[in-house]
Amino acid sequence: MTRKDSVEKIIGASKSPKKPSGRAFAPSNIALCKYWGKRNVELNLPVNSSLSVSLGRLGTETFISQADQDQVWLNDELVTSDAPFAQRLFRFLDLFRPADDYKFTIRTKNNIPTAAGLASSASGYAALVLALNDFWGWDLELRELSILARLGSGSASRSLFHGFVEWHRGEAVDGLDSYAEQIDVQWPDLRIAVLSVSQEKKAVGSTEGMNRTVETSALYKSWPQQAERDIKEIRQAIADQDFSKLGAVAESNALAMHATMIAADPPLLYWLPETVELFRKVWTLRNDGLPVYFTIDAGPNVKVLFEEKHETSVREYFPDAKIVIPFE
Ligand code: PMV
Repeated sequence: MTRKDSVEKIIGASKSPKKPSGRAFAPSNIALCKYWGKRNVELNLPVNSSLSVSLGRLGTETFISQADQDQVWLNDELVTSDAPFAQRLFRFLDLFRPADDYKFTIRTKNNIPTAAGLASSASGYAALVLALNDFWGWDLELRELSILARLGSGSASRSLFHGFVEWHRGEAVDGLDSYAEQIDVQWPDLRIAVLSVSQEKKAVGSTEGMNRTVETSALYKSWPQQAERDIKEIRQAIADQDFSKLGAVAESNALAMHATMIAADPPLLYWLPETVELFRKVWTLRNDGLPVYFTIDAGPNVKVLFEEKHETSVREYFPDAKIVIPFE
């Protein structure tokens, strides 16, 4: 089963575009129970289910139209076509071309401050799939669009939706049951402070990092059970609006994911000294009675979860934080 087979199963034979151009927006997302490890690398099928919260109005807007040659503009700048960013995008578009000589122009903009280190492939591939759906007039269900976005980047399957989102790992070999769905619970008081430690591109990308961890880390064996337990608890914490449970499980889930990476060979350590300083600061504040918890992805930047009523304190202790309101 290839990515192309998946696409054909979902959209059938390519038709002609419904309009001169397609447009869409998709939010960025942060996982509270992380996706780490692929059971199928070609199809981005995950070892475990994951659960995220989308970042409201922060994300990617993408326009797509037919062109004489493939071109991608990122934040109003033309990306050279041999850059890894463009290459990955054009290979993804190969899955949708009605003929080999069919080319696209993509204009994509992130409204996430680059300094926040949040601009990711998740909102990018989700917005691209939604823009393709708009352009070709596929009229697909969100579930099907989530599968298509997953083929671009695993976490993009979750960026099709706002609010809390669960990506079901699925069981099927063809991955047609591995898609994300929205959890119908709002949490208007939830806040995320993004603490940027470094904006440098990470040395080891998520796919390579996951594959290395799955293949070489002795600790990875315990990860699927931990993720399964954590996702249940996070679902329950969301249903009960139990903030300290949500925060505690999200923090320990992120640390467990990093433990599996650190035990890989060669080890994967995405943290910088400032990252660890921020962990300690969060722990100290929490010991002193401020309910703050962190989560962290495959990079050095830290995201602090808190509730609106503690915003003044969080701003005071983390003056450089970018504060995100997921349920705005
Ligand atoms: O979707 P990818 O390949 O960028 O991987 C995302 C991996 C993490 O951000 C570390 C976890 C997650 O679930 O988003």
